[in-house]
Amino acid sequence: MKAAFYGLRAKQISLVFVALICSTILIWAWEKNPILTNFIPSHSSWLQVSSDVPTGSAEGNVRMQDTKSHKFGHVLVPPTVIESGGSHSEVLEEEHLQEGESLQLSAPTYVFVNSTGSTKDGQKEMILGQGNEACNYAEGKWVVDEKRPLYSGYGCKQWLSGMWACRLTQRMNFDYETLRWQPKNCQMDEFEGEIFLKRMKDKTIAFVGDSLGRQQFQSLMCMVTGGVGQLDVMDVGVEYGLVKAPGAIRPDGWVYRFPGTNTTILYYWSASLCDLEPIDPSNSSTEYAMHLDRPPSFLRRFISQFDVLVLNTGHHWNRGKLNANRWVMYVGGKPNTDMEIAEIWNARNFTIHSIVKWVDSQLPKYPKLKAFYRSISPRHFVGGDWNTGGSCDNENPMSIGKEVSQDESRDPSAWSAVRGTKVKLLDITGPSQVRDEGHISRFSIKGTTGVQDCLHWCLPGVPDTWNEMLAAQV
Ligand SMILES: *[C@@H]1O[C@H](CO)[C@@H](O)[C@H](O)[C@H]1NC(C)=O
Ligand SMILES: *[C@@H]1O[C@H](CO)[C@@H](O)[C@H](O)[C@H]1NC(C)=O
Ligand SMILES: *[C@@H]1O[C@H](CO)[C@@H](O)[C@H](O)[C@H]1NC(C)=O
Ligand SMILES: *[C@@H]1O[C@H](CO)[C@@H](O)[C@H](O)[C@H]1NC(C)=O
Repeated sequence: MKAAFYGLRAKQISLVFVALICSTILIWAWEKNPILTNFIPSHSSWLQVSSDVPTGSAEGNVRMQDTKSHKFGHVLVPPTVIESGGSHSEVLEEEHLQEGESLQLSAPTYVFVNSTGSTKDGQKEMILGQGNEACNYAEGKWVVDEKRPLYSGYGCKQWLSGMWACRLTQRMNFDYETLRWQPKNCQMDEFEGEIFLKRMKDKTIAFVGDSLGRQQFQSLMCMVTGGVGQLDVMDVGVEYGLVKAPGAIRPDGWVYRFPGTNTTILYYWSASLCDLEPIDPSNSSTEYAMHLDRPPSFLRRFISQFDVLVLNTGHHWNRGKLNANRWVMYVGGKPNTDMEIAEIWNARNFTIHSIVKWVDSQLPKYPKLKAFYRSISPRHFVGGDWNTGGSCDNENPMSIGKEVSQDESRDPSAWSAVRGTKVKLLDITGPSQVRDEGHISRFSIKGTTGVQDCLHWCLPGVPDTWNEMLAAQV
């Protein structure tokens, strides 16, 4: 708990106190009166992997190699710390544990590995070629590749947050760094930073989403530089209004430009992908209208500048976090009155559909834009949640599976949102689901014990693969 407050400024302490009191009351109320938990889906379809898995079952399942029981996080408890509400509020540096109390995936989701390593569907024709529409990057397997990782976790200090650089922690086992994703039916060329930058000459790549999006951004910065410091890379955040506000811990995003190829890589923090608007700007503790059907103003303003856009949202969608942030759902410019949308999972689904639809509607105006919605990044808390003793202690790669075979994405909201649009799905859920060993785990903060981050990933690590999948499709 202490660790969650690491790096706090005195100014924020009062804010945190309010959050603490709220969550204490909520937790207390929850314990006293489980009825309050009716915001938890009743037939909860949390990502769950259990030993009573039908082996050899239908399409859409990952396979499980052994019969160890793995139960991923499924306890919903209000968060302890508030994150940035509007663009001017402060963001806590240590957002890693507060995110992701909840996650909903196709239910139930099984992990199931064919121990021979052979794929179930040998008949499918091999379709090779970069960016081939017919190939599904989410199907394939993890293989050990001694040429990995693509950059050094010691070296990439310029862009990699210390809290995510597992090489800088007390972790001793780095086997997770040597895995490479091998899609089944498509060619994914070896990633080369220089070649990628040349392909992205004069282009702007933008990540907009929560801290998992920020991980993907940092990963890409490290990948294109090979993790070697590059002093000529320019910080051009000011072009996008992304500068640290006085008193803020960090800006709402970062923008870097590589002078050689004039390639720009950007990240903007928007945890919900909703437009947030203070309801009473004159009130310092105002609530925020969270417009479920209106994209963040940053995106509306700058989409014309982007050549590649990668959106994501997911782990901020829980009642506790909405309450703590004082986010009030709005639809059609008015407070939401639709009880169905008010249900948190429906709200999230509604928002994903809204934003994808909006981006799709913009594509005719910006034909050069390639837009992706990135499916949800799975968490791997076992035996509880981040604040109830959950952990992800396994450090051995591929012990819950290495092969993924699926028809539809493991993220049904993302899957259905992009269907029928020109927005592509960057489907990372299945491959990431079998990477339980790749999280920060108990090494999240040097010298502390009992803190577990089974949500964010070690870098270098799994998000590098998300970028390889992206690079193959742009
Ligand atoms: C693995 O898959 C192959 C190909 O479909 C199949 O022949 C084999 O029996 C499977 N092995 C197991 C252990 O399920
Ligand atoms: C850099 O790329 C941008 C497009 O992202 C373009 O507008 C600009 O002219 C380029 N600058 C140079 C110096 O080529
Ligand atoms: C400011 O907003 C909070 C709710 O966020 C409300 O409780 C409070 O009464 C408001 N204060 C004023 C002066 O309107
Ligand atoms: C999500 O919303 C879309 C469109 O509103 C709807 O068609 C779909 O059934 C919803 N999916 C879920 C899982 O609720």
